[in-house]
Amino acid sequence: MADIRIHDKIFSPFISAESIQERVRDLAAQINSDYKDKNPLLIGILNGSFIFAADLFRSLTIEAEISFVKLASYKGTSSSGHVVTAIGLEEELHGRHIIIVEDIIDTGKTLHSFLPGLHQRQPASVKIAAFLTKPTALQYEVKADYVAFEIENKFVVGYGLDYDGQGRNYPELYQLKEEFLQGL
Ligand code: IMP
Ligand code: MG
Repeated sequence: MADIRIHDKIFSPFISAESIQERVRDLAAQINSDYKDKNPLLIGILNGSFIFAADLFRSLTIEAEISFVKLASYKGTSSSGHVVTAIGLEEELHGRHIIIVEDIIDTGKTLHSFLPGLHQRQPASVKIAAFLTKPTALQYEVKADYVAFEIENKFVVGYGLDYDGQGRNYPELYQLKEEFLQGL
């Protein structure tokens, strides 16, 4: 496997497509056993989660549904200064078992802002499936229940994750090369 170039940066092979598929199947097996007869509703957060969500969902053998939302975040005038609106979540959530599907939890800010609004709609339960987490980057209290890989705090692309719009289509994961980190 070779390095790839996206815009001005070079990325090195990091996690193979085979390893990714294996871990995603592991998570699906856990969900199959945890949610049997619960008909969970997976909610994928766009754009980054669409490939992970598709693979995960395809590996589920239980009754399950899926929907997607796009989160719009903007600075409010309140002291919290950060508001997240879910675009496109029309499903009735009351009494449903929800599994949020995210590409990566970095600082945790996005999900931390999204969760209170979700809980207001009175789901029966809410869990989080994250393809990646960066534990050392976490700044908000967000805990993923299903995690494919915990990685160090370096920028990655592939398997749905992008650098400035590019790189989502690689089936494997690439990590930004050390010597290019300085300019970030
Ligand atoms: P958070 O709100 O800081 O947890 O940010 C999460 C979002 O930042 C993810 O959904 C990604 O869109 C983006 N992100 C964080 N780290 C990376 C990375 O290494 N590569 C690509 N996108 C990332
Ligand atoms: Mg994202």
